Formats: sequence, C-alpha cells, structure tokens
Amino acid sequence: MCRIEFCLLVFSISIIDASTLNGAQPSSRNNELKQFPSDFLFGAATSSYQIEGAWNEGGKGWSMWDHLVRTAPEHIADNTTGDVASNSYYFYKRDVQILKELGVNIYRFSISWPRILPYGRPDYVNREGVDYYNNLINELLANDITPFVTMYHWELPQNLNERGGWLTRDTDDENIIDWFGDYARVLYREFGDRVKHWLTINEPYIHCNHGYGYANHAPRRSSPGEGYYECGRNILLAHARAYHIYKEEFSQGGQVGIVLSCDWAMPSTDSEADAQAVLDYFDFHFGIYMDPIFSPQGNQPQSLIDRIANMSAAQGYSESRLRPFTEEQIDYMRGTSDFLALNHYTSYIVYKNESVNGMYVVPSHNDDAQIGMYRDPSWLQSISPWLYGYPAGLHNLLVYIKNKYNSPTIYITENGFSSNPGLIDNDRVTYYRGYLNAVLDALDDGVDVRGYCAWSLMDNFEWAAGFTVRFGLYQVDMNDPERPRTPRKSALVYKEIIRSRVIDPEYNPDPYETDGSYVIKTSCVFVITLALLNIVL
Ligand code: NOJ
Repeated sequence: MCRIEFCLLVFSISIIDASTLNGAQPSSRNNELKQFPSDFLFGAATSSYQIEGAWNEGGKGWSMWDHLVRTAPEHIADNTTGDVASNSYYFYKRDVQILKELGVNIYRFSISWPRILPYGRPDYVNREGVDYYNNLINELLANDITPFVTMYHWELPQNLNERGGWLTRDTDDENIIDWFGDYARVLYREFGDRVKHWLTINEPYIHCNHGYGYANHAPRRSSPGEGYYECGRNILLAHARAYHIYKEEFSQGGQVGIVLSCDWAMPSTDSEADAQAVLDYFDFHFGIYMDPIFSPQGNQPQSLIDRIANMSAAQGYSESRLRPFTEEQIDYMRGTSDFLALNHYTSYIVYKNESVNGMYVVPSHNDDAQIGMYRDPSWLQSISPWLYGYPAGLHNLLVYIKNKYNSPTIYITENGFSSNPGLIDNDRVTYYRGYLNAVLDALDDGVDVRGYCAWSLMDNFEWAAGFTVRFGLYQVDMNDPERPRTPRKSALVYKEIIRSRVIDPEYNPDPYETDGSYVIKTSCVFVITLALLNIVL
C-alpha cells in the first residue's frame, strides 16, 4: 500500500486542521480575518452555449448541442434549448457592466467554435462571429477586466461531429486533433494580440463521460468502456496540439492551459481496500488527464493502464480498451500546460467495490475503477443531485495537487452551487464563504493558487437540466425578452469579498434594497392584483 500517492494523500489530509474540516468557520490568523493577497485574481465564469443565444444568427453554424436540442428535445429536463438563453450575443455590454459591478479582475468565457468556423474548418471564417468576440474582448479590456478564454466548452460543430468528432482516430487522414489545432490557430491569429490566457478544452472527464459514455450530453453516444477512453485520448492530443501551435507559431507572450475537473474523495473506512479506492478515484477521474501533462514522467498512471488492460483481456478483447500512447505522443503531451485550470464542486466518500453487483454497465470506466461512492447527508445539499458542499474538500485537493504534481500554478476556473430561482440564496452564500475560506487555507499551505472564478456569473442553460437549476450570482429572468440580470445576495457577498479581500461572516446584504427595478416591478404586480381584487369583489 505504500504507493507514493497514498503517502502524499495521507500527508495532505493530516495537515488539514479541524476547523477547515467542517468548512463553516471563517479562517483567521491570530483572530484577524485572513486576507487574500492583493494580486489574487477574482473572477466569474460562463460558457458560450449556456448564455449566448443567437443560435442561428450572425452567420453561426450548428453545434452538436443545436442538433441535440432539436432532435431529442425530450432529453432536456424542461424541454428547453440554449437558442436564446441569457442572450449574451446581444447583451454582452450588460454582462461587462455586471462584471464591473462585482469588481472582478477576470472573466472566463468561451468561444463557440461554429460561430467562428460555421463548418468547423478554417476555409470559411465567419467575420460576424469574429466581430462579436472582438467587441466582447475590447469591452472587457476597456473596463480593466482580463479575459480568460476557453476555446472549447463542448460545442463541437455538428459537421465535424458527423465526420466522427472526438471518436476519430489519430491515425485517420482526417481527425479531431488536426481540426482542433487548425481552429486554435484561427483563435490565436484573431484574438491573441489581446487574449493572454487561453484554456484549451473544458473538463475532458465530464465531456467524455456524459457525451460519449452515458449519452447524457451531446452527441449522446453510449460507450462507457471504449468511446469514453477514445474521447479522452483525443482530447489530450488535441490540447497538446493547440499548445505546441501557440508556442511554435506565435510570439504573443501569453499562456495556455487545460481545464480539468476534480472533486475530492475520502475513504469510507480505514481499510486498505478503501485507501486503494481513493487512489483509484484520483487515477480514473484526474490522473488519467493530469499525469500525461503535469507528471515528470508523462503518460497515464501505470496502475490504470494495467487495470484496464487486464480487465479488457478478461472480457475477451484482443487489445486494451485504453489504447496506449506511443513514446512520441507521450513526449508530445508532457509539460503542455503553463498552468492548471481547475474546476471543483463537491466531494465523495468512496469504497472499494470489486464485484460490481449490477451497479455499473460492463464494460465501463466506472466498472474499471472498481469503486462505490456516496455523500455524508450532513453536507450542504444543492438542488443538483450530484452537488453537495464540503469546503474542506477543496483545501485537501489543492494541497494534494501541490504535493503530487510539484506545485503547479493553479487558477480555480469554476466553483459554485445550484439553487431554485430567487434573490435570497443563503445556501449559495454559505457555499461560497466555505470554499473561499478553503482557498485561503490552501494559500497558507503554500499552494500556488493565483485566482478563483465563481460559476456562474449569471443563470444559464445547465445542459440536460435545462433551466431547472440556477447557478448564477445574477438571476436572469428567462421569460423577459430583455433578460434582466439582477444581483442575488451571493453576488453582493462576493462583491464585498472582492472589495475587502476578507470573508466577513457577519455581512448580510439585502438584494431587494439594491435593485430598484425589482422593487418597482413587485410593487406594480401588487397594485395590479389589488385593483383586480377590487373589481372582482
Ligand atoms: C461544469 C461545466 O463546465 C459547466 O458547463 C456546468 O454548467 C457546471 N459544471 C455546473 O454543472
């Protein structure tokens, strides 16, 4: 059991003091509230399909999400689409205004591939799409807000999806690695004079798991034991291609990184088997993407390679379902990230589960991982079944990454909590305070974390959940054509944290006091209701 990772994990857990484990207490040094360093960057994040709308306007082509919501509308919880969403294509100036209101330093948004290249390939560049992002970037810079730009947040042009998308093979004449590289080159050329922080691909684990494993997201493939791994393999190679193109063909002085998601996992019991389950959790959810880029030796974790090879052989496959990388590919991927963009939301308690007992489809990456997972019901529960708040998990994870991967520079590019509509979002406030305290604790432990983006700036289209859950600091009225953005209590709390650089647990703003329009609208409804009652009675 004395694998180096486990020793690091135990070390990481052991240095965490009890006050952070419940996450409820404000972090303090010598009874003073801890302060974020003056150069720590605060931000908010969104993605194009989730907020932009204008799905078939301004020369944009179809993405695989446009295709999904038209061909399988029943698959979205409330039968909605991202056709209009928060309509940021038209209201981007208002978005910049609310970023300014919050006082953030950075805005993480994504570029829609088919808005720039309607058919996916650079033989036809849509100038209207380029203008839209130029306007947004210029507006941000004019307001002293630094753009962090995601190149791919799951919007594959449908044309490329039909030509095999993330399941093409690197050995094919036409493949996604070349396609993504060519797209990245266009972005650097058009925007690289002003954008200095590029995030290549968002959350390979979630994209491949939901899109190619379990058919929850576009393009709705069901292949959790093969397609899932192929997708991830291609994403790693495509990311590396975009990185090399930037470094070798451009001299724009910026940085390129990948966005990986990772939740925290802790063992169910102190048995060796459950300790192994924790190692497996990290290998199968994080190491599989992290190690090829950030480990000194490169490539995916050997234990994972061996496990999948053995299980594939036992299942009658002639070769491993995880196709091995060549030595050349391993070298090509190693070191291809100037920073880690980390998305983190929740934690799990895990246990070893060798006999699958009908829990997972076989073969599948979940079956390969051989773990079961659950939550502590006392953790802060959101309205998304997968999201429970446990702030110490973020502190633990940051320390784990520092120790295991030689202290990479980290930007937290997503962290947030879902709720029902409404301006008084006390649970979200509790969540943000807890998680930001965890960041302060990690800074104290010497983690090189430079920034934090709340997910999300505003309510948006939450993929298969449609608009049934809200993640916004700002509420968006999806029934009003003007899509008004109204600050929730959490927005006011976040704003005060950014201003003061401390987390004051006593600060208790009232969002109704700050939003005149809301009060006026509510009063109008009240007066009209009274008038109607008067008539009826
Ligand atoms: C991560 C994804 O990047 C984002 O698109 C999604 O809305 C949030 N998680 C919340 O589920």
